[in-house]
Amino acid sequence: MECFTLKGLLVVTGLYLATLTGCGFGADSPGATSSGVDAPPLLVAEDFNFDSIKSIEEYFREARYAEVDMKNGEILSNSCLACHTFGQGEKHGLGPNIYGFFGQPAARHMDFAYSEALQESGIIWTPRALEAWLALPSRFLPGTIMPFAGFKSETDRRDLVGFLMIETNNFTNK
Ligand code: HEC
Repeated sequence: MECFTLKGLLVVTGLYLATLTGCGFGADSPGATSSGVDAPPLLVAEDFNFDSIKSIEEYFREARYAEVDMKNGEILSNSCLACHTFGQGEKHGLGPNIYGFFGQPAARHMDFAYSEALQESGIIWTPRALEAWLALPSRFLPGTIMPFAGFKSETDRRDLVGFLMIETNNFTNK
């Protein structure tokens, strides 16, 4: 019966009707990156259309980012600080300094040894692209050298991205 409850939830999302046949949910979960535990499905860099990049101010006018829990975002950002610096002019760590990266092409620092995959990705760091990246970098961009397991919760990803939009810019949401 437990397996039916799980499927019920998935069906609500409208994404995994295929799992209705058989009781295979447990087989590709947990840990399987393509298991569909997450909703909406994880996107990959190729799926992004970067034509309409907005200002950070405009993103905060969207309902999605207007609701950001900054405190939660700040707590989650501690896991990035192991490798990244956020402030203007700060040194790179294991990962590059990410001051001012929103709206910019990926891999823009000449003095950081990025992966070829990131350099050739064509990614522009919109909030949605960053959210998708943070779900699982190695899935979003195969070949990236950012060793990060990703955040399962969509709300967590949104909160972190909202926090970083403020924290890595001179822009203030106040
Ligand atoms: C263990 C180290 C590590 C951790 C933890 C980590 N990163 Fe990274 N990050 C990297 C490395 C290394 C790269 C370069 C990836 C590449 O070249 O493929 C990178 C690249 C990036 C980039 C692309 C930067 C650019 O100039 O295009 C962003 C954005 C980013 N990380 C955000 C984050 C965020 C947000 C977190 C916290 C959730 C995080 N990273 C956690 C190591 C890390």
